[in-house]
Order: sequence, then structure tokens, then C-alpha cells
Amino acid sequence: MEDSLERTSREPSKFARGWYLVSWSADLELGEVKPLRYFGKDFVLFRGGAGTATLLDAHCPHLGAHLGYGGRVEGNDIICPFHAWRFGTSGRCTEVPYASRIPPRAAVHAYRVQEHSGMIVAYFGGNGSEPDYEVPVIEELADDAWTPLERAEIEIATQPREVIENIADRAHFLPVHNTLLDDFEVIIDGPRATQRSLGRGHNLQGEPIPVVSVATYHGPAIQFTRLQWAYDMVLINSHIPIEDNKLLLRFGVILRAGKGVTLPPEVLEAHVAAARNGYFEDVAIWENKRWRDRPLLTDGDGPIAEVRKWYNSFFSNAFASPTRSVR
Ligand code: FES
Ligand SMILES: [Fe+2]
Repeated sequence: MEDSLERTSREPSKFARGWYLVSWSADLELGEVKPLRYFGKDFVLFRGGAGTATLLDAHCPHLGAHLGYGGRVEGNDIICPFHAWRFGTSGRCTEVPYASRIPPRAAVHAYRVQEHSGMIVAYFGGNGSEPDYEVPVIEELADDAWTPLERAEIEIATQPREVIENIADRAHFLPVHNTLLDDFEVIIDGPRATQRSLGRGHNLQGEPIPVVSVATYHGPAIQFTRLQWAYDMVLINSHIPIEDNKLLLRFGVILRAGKGVTLPPEVLEAHVAAARNGYFEDVAIWENKRWRDRPLLTDGDGPIAEVRKWYNSFFSNAFASPTRSVR
């Protein structure tokens, strides 16, 4: 029974369809094989000899071994650790070393994968939906005026809706992030939702400085933020469900030190830490709060209902509407 369920849905439909960050590029070396568990399901991620990252359902169609535990890469294929069946990047079995023919249904599902900007992203779509948007390349990463990508991740007990809702939640900026807002809007544009804010924060010396932030979700789970604070920064914020009420938050940051400038490591680390901590400041709230389907809202709360509607569009196959700004 469980087996047939696994075959009919590529991930439970209770999760939003879209591109998700499944691994940092730097965490998957040539020839490396990794078991992953997301959406309450098991996957195997590996990097073949040509450098391509492949994401497959984890369990071998033969007797069900997990390809991520003991599986090994040969060329661009993965070899099952149990009886050495071989699977290519399309998920098809290409060799059964001791049999005269390969059963025609010998395959595991292969996911669409793209790799750029230090990220391996994969598309998860319920009911066979196809990608209808892209996650853009972060051009700054190729510019040597910017520092290399610094990364962090944290597992937390919450659901994606709580994380998403942050972009609409105007009133939490001061109590949670100690930032006074002068201007704030959310722009909904098909699969993207952008929060623009202009506020007053503090630098690491405690002096008041302006904070300008443009934070865009490209789909339901990957957000890039361009931040002008003590430095110009680009932040990657992403989440991926591990199972119900448990997700992995990933955070990446680069900052513009300037061409030929090497920042003292402690200065870089302090600013990276401040940006990271800013993103993680919401965690204690998320882990202990209760989701309200019908929250009691006021006119100063920001466009929470609009952003909920936007997120719901990833549970159907169509995106609502022309671009609009909501406050
Ligand atoms: S279980 Fe994979 S080859 Fe037998
Ligand atoms: Fe927040």
C-alpha cells in the first residue's frame, strides 16, 4: 500500500510545488553520494564524473535498498549497494550485472535539477506539474568585488507557511528585528513575491543607519534579498520541509567588500553573523507559536491575507493575476 502511494505522487500534495534548494553545491563533491530526506520521503543525491548533480527517489525498484547508503558512483551512474543494479541520470536501470535482460519497469523517478549560484535546486511538483518559472542566477557571486558565499543551516520545528508569512508581517520588524520601518510594500508578481522595505537599524557600533531591503521569493521556498546595510549584501534564504512541522532553513550571504579589498576576517565574520542572526531571529517565535487560520488582523499588520493567497497558488497549477502591490 505504502509502495503504491510512493509511486503515484512525487511528493505529498500538502507541500507547495516549486523549486527547492536541496544542497549547497559545495557540499556535494565529484563522485559523492548522499541520502536526503525531504517532504517525508527519501532521496539520493549524487554527483557523477561529468560533474552533474542527479536527484533520484531513494529506493531501488529491485528489492528496495536505499541507493544513498552504500551506493557508489561509476561514470555518471549510481550502482545499488545491494545487488549492483546500475541507474543512469534519467533514473532508468541500465545494467543488471547477473541477468540476461533488464525488466522494462526498472527505474526510479529522477527530479529536474539545476545548479548555479552555489545551489543545487530541484523541482517538486504534485500531479506531474512542470516548472513554469526559474530561479535566477545571482550575478554578484561571479564578481570579485564580493566575498565568497558564507553558508549556515538550521533545522527547525515549524511549517513553511510561517516562514513565508514573514514577508508580509510588517509589525514584527521592530519587536523581533529591532528595525523601525519608514516604508514597506509587498509586490506580488506571478510566482514571485517581493518585500521592499526602508527602515532604520543599527550598525555593529550601535550607530543608527538606514536599512534598505528588497527580498524576493522566487517560488515558494527560495528567497534572495538585496540588502543595503553596513555593506551591500545579497542573502539567500531558503527552506525545505523535512516532514510535517520540521524544516531545514538554509542561509547564505555575500557582501561587497570592493575590488581588491580583503576585509579583516573578524569584520567579515561579524557582519555575516549579524545578517545570519537577523534571519534566525524569528526561529524561537516560529517554533513555539500556533498557526491561526483566521488571525485577528489590524490595518497595520501588512498584507498577510494576500501573501497567504499567493502561497496557495503553489497548490494549484496556475498563478493568480497581474503584478500588484499590496501594503
Ligand atoms: S535492491 Fe538494488 S540491486 Fe537489489
Ligand atoms: Fe522576520
